[in-house]
Amino acid sequence: MIAIEIARAGGPEVLTPVERPMPEPVAGEVLIRVAAAGVNRPDVMQRRGVYPPPPGASDIPGLEVAGTVEHVGAGVSEWRGGDRVCALISGGGYAEYCVAPAAQCLPVPEGMEVVDAAAIPETFFTVWTNVFDRGALGEGERALFHGGSSGIGTTAIQLAATRGARVYVTAGSDEKCRACERLGAERAINYRSVDFVEAVKELTGGAGVDLILDIMGGDYLDRNLRALAIGGRLVQIGLMGGSEATIDLRRLLGRRLTLTGSTLRPRSVEEKGAIAEALLREVWPLLETGRVRPIVYRRFPLTQASEAHRLMESSEHIGKIVLTI
Ligand SMILES: NC(=O)c1ccc[n+]([C@@H]2O[C@H](COP(=O)([O-])OP(=O)(O)OC[C@H]3O[C@@H](n4cnc5c(N)ncnc54)[C@H](OP(=O)(O)O)[C@@H]3O)[C@@H](O)[C@H]2O)c1
Repeated sequence: MIAIEIARAGGPEVLTPVERPMPEPVAGEVLIRVAAAGVNRPDVMQRRGVYPPPPGASDIPGLEVAGTVEHVGAGVSEWRGGDRVCALISGGGYAEYCVAPAAQCLPVPEGMEVVDAAAIPETFFTVWTNVFDRGALGEGERALFHGGSSGIGTTAIQLAATRGARVYVTAGSDEKCRACERLGAERAINYRSVDFVEAVKELTGGAGVDLILDIMGGDYLDRNLRALAIGGRLVQIGLMGGSEATIDLRRLLGRRLTLTGSTLRPRSVEEKGAIAEALLREVWPLLETGRVRPIVYRRFPLTQASEAHRLMESSEHIGKIVLTI
């Protein structure tokens, strides 16, 4: 099969189409003929050599796919050849075939094109477990999502707004801000021209927000803590602005704040399976009625993975980028 290999750590040009043997599903896994694979920022970090695959995962990049089940490994009864699925995987998605744990597969939502379904798993699993499980965002609460136009952001806006939260986001241009508002954000803040802490204080009558989902880290930490309301939660899922920061811990005490975070990729199949079950129950009906959808900005053929990474690093995109086969 054709797969995209990271020839060495480096720029987008190191993504190289190669021939690789087809993977074989072991017990509990399915083999998927890939129709499309989503591109995610963690793939860019893996390509640069700063986010190695966890032990046992494929060295081929790609954390999500959609396609057709080819055949299944021992003990798999919930899927069979011909089923249309999308799947969260720990690597191996940039390829004509890949294996996935059966528990991490979900049906392509009724009425959705299979290519669009490839843009679902990574961001929907991540947003569900961090915004609703870990962050416990409730109806009527206020949330701030940084990077509102990112794959993660466009998913978080729609899910939170549909579930009755009031959503604010930051984004890097007025065009991106308007796109976020069309998706359901009550207000999008252009962080290049407006201080988001001031904006949040103004929008909430001085109270702050109940939850922040942050992809920046670094010097955003102190500013995030200042933008939280009493009892607020900061969930850290990315460190694009740096992994170290200094804060005045009194900020946590006075307003009883919670600082937490997580990464999805190293979690167990059981944990990811539990997230898949919650998504099927709570989110699949929203996808099937079109109330929530993956926002696909652009598709590239698999062999143009380098171009897809160049686009992602330009940050021009709004939503997701997918590779098609
Ligand atoms: N913890 C987890 O389990 C998990 C899982 C998936 C993804 N993530 C993380 O979530 C983040 C988003 O991932 P994604 O795949 O959705 O990526 P993405 O679509 O490429 O989004 C990244 C966004 O960050 C913004 N950005 C880029 N450079 C910036 C800078 N210097 N300052 C401020 N904003 C900047 C860009 O928008 P602007 O134009 O607005 O700047 C861009 O839209 C990444 O940090 C990724 O590692 C975490």
